[in-house]
Amino acid sequence: MKIFIAKDYNEMSRKAANIIAAQVIVKPDCVLGLATGSTPIGAYEELVKRYQAGDLDFSEVTSVNLDEYKGLPKENDQSYDYFMREHLFQHINMKASYLPDGMKEDAEEECRRYEELIQSLGGVDLQLLGLGHNGHIGFNEPAEIFEKETHCVDLQPSTIEANKRFFASADEVPKKAYTMGIQTIMRAKKILVVVSGADKADIVRDAFFGPVTPHVPASILQMHSDVTLIGDEAAMAKIPR
Ligand code: F6R
Repeated sequence: MKIFIAKDYNEMSRKAANIIAAQVIVKPDCVLGLATGSTPIGAYEELVKRYQAGDLDFSEVTSVNLDEYKGLPKENDQSYDYFMREHLFQHINMKASYLPDGMKEDAEEECRRYEELIQSLGGVDLQLLGLGHNGHIGFNEPAEIFEKETHCVDLQPSTIEANKRFFASADEVPKKAYTMGIQTIMRAKKILVVVSGADKADIVRDAFFGPVTPHVPASILQMHSDVTLIGDEAAMAKIPR
């Protein structure tokens, strides 16, 4: 595992953007695996700047996202589709970008379709990941086993409670989500994890320097042969030196 400690969020974002940009330059028709959440926003901003400056071209790049809420239309500003358009897709010339379709009723069929789509693209060249406070990656929450492929998860009551504030009422908060599985993520040729803030310091230590266990889903990344971890000083404060 390669580890970079950045002095702050901005430096973390620039370093992450460097790695994504390098991937696009070296393989212009690559497949990028993308994430939502607050951590990658700065890296997306950097990529947009470089595209606007004429230094990056995404015209042959395809992206697949990690996850999407089930039951939210793309137009809903809480959908991950909306997030990705707002922070990245509407600003650059990406050839094609895919997320699980949150409006598909048949969850099994949608999971199969998304998994096959990723395989039909030739797999993911570089997967960008954020890290949940409980060690989740995508919506792969702590569990007794590592869930393999794209699947539909029941959101934990704590997640529903935490998300309530973004919706008009608690009833509108999605109860389920689609997510790439652990095996789907582990099949990516390269993985880039971004972490920021003191509140992530314990989980960074546990996930990358503790035992590999489905109780800390991100710990499986220790078994991947090409992982880069970029964190700001606060998030990396507790890793063994
Ligand atoms: C987002 C995702 C989540 C986030 C994680 C960290 O697509 O799959 O696993 O990466 O919850 O979120 P932030 O970056 O908001 O701390």
